[in-house]
Amino acid sequence: MKIVIILPTYNERDNIVLLISALQQQFTGIKHDMNILVVDDNSPDGTADIVRAEMAKAKNIFLITGKKEGLGAAYIRGMKHAINELGADAVMEMDADFSHKPEDVPRLIAALDEGADFVIGSRYVPGGKIPDNWSFLRRMNSKWGNVFARYVAGMYKVRDCTAGFRAIRSAIINKIDPDTLKVKGYAFQISLLHEAILNHAKVTEVPVVFIDRTRGVTKLGLSDIIEFMLNAWWIRLERSKTFLKFGIVGAAGVVVNLLSFTLLMKFGMNKFLASPLAIEISIITNFLMNNYWTFSERDMNDRIHIRGLKFNAVSFVALAVSYTTFLILSAVDPNGIPQVHQLIGIIPATLINYFLNSYWTFKE
Ligand code: GDD
Ligand code: MN
Repeated sequence: MKIVIILPTYNERDNIVLLISALQQQFTGIKHDMNILVVDDNSPDGTADIVRAEMAKAKNIFLITGKKEGLGAAYIRGMKHAINELGADAVMEMDADFSHKPEDVPRLIAALDEGADFVIGSRYVPGGKIPDNWSFLRRMNSKWGNVFARYVAGMYKVRDCTAGFRAIRSAIINKIDPDTLKVKGYAFQISLLHEAILNHAKVTEVPVVFIDRTRGVTKLGLSDIIEFMLNAWWIRLERSKTFLKFGIVGAAGVVVNLLSFTLLMKFGMNKFLASPLAIEISIITNFLMNNYWTFSERDMNDRIHIRGLKFNAVSFVALAVSYTTFLILSAVDPNGIPQVHQLIGIIPATLINYFLNSYWTFKE
């Protein structure tokens, strides 16, 4: 396997040579084809020139330079270069300031060997650690970043969503196309992770101890924090969008149902025949709207008529759930208002309707 460690740098002249040699030393114990790609954004301190001098000494060191747009933008460029130009089978993210220990690289790669697609060097699993001397502010920043990522963006299962020490299979990155991630700064970390999870990547967290940098200064700025928080809400919105569309379709279905019911009776149909027919008409129009709008972006296996039958079956399950709820409520509260019971019945029915259709009918 060809692995490329991407090191983004901005003014890391005091770290980069030491890090490259520490990594080269680790590589001797790894069975894979190990490479280093430095992504330097024209650092004024001349980091790139120092890297060029190192490149003359070894064949597995590469460099790309560019305009400074942020950590995320640098990683996106680096990943594309590593995969498309260098032919990497997997890439790694790592800070160039020794916050991530070179000695931990083999453990992250071992997790890839064991079958993981997305390995996180995690500070928040047992055995992992953040520096003891971190200020209250830095601690809160990191903690809240993860709270946002886990509970706003919805990645509950991952402990360290913002980590910058990771090993990722190229196949996963190719599925995502990093260019579509509209993030420039540190928010990139959670956007990439989120997309990887959506693409069913096997995520593994390996404990690491994070070391405070001793040379140079951090590049994390206020704009990164703002972008990070907005991005977490954006991810949340994107996630709820499907459910929202499903709700709109459901409401439109009620209109279709009542309209066709009225029309059918106008044309002289008996109401006991018009009622189920109107229900079926609205099930079909709901199906078409969900198929061509709500879930239109999904890659689905089933043929459309199979999906139609499944959707119909789910609609009957929802009907049964809503009716059962109605019966239970009527028994528990015989003097209650029937309309309220009917309305409450819609809630579990809608949820079940949504989940069954999302995970079965319109399964990716
Ligand atoms: N090319 C490039 N362009 N490199 C950058 C840029 C940029 O705009 N901004 C930062 N870097 C480089 C730095 O030179 C360093 O090698 C690495 O990216 C990480 O930057 P730091 O400034 O050291 O980040 P940090 O220590 O505050 O943040 C670490 O923890 C975060 C989570 O708590 C990193 O590991 C982040 O990736 C992580 O999200
Ligand atoms: Mn750092």
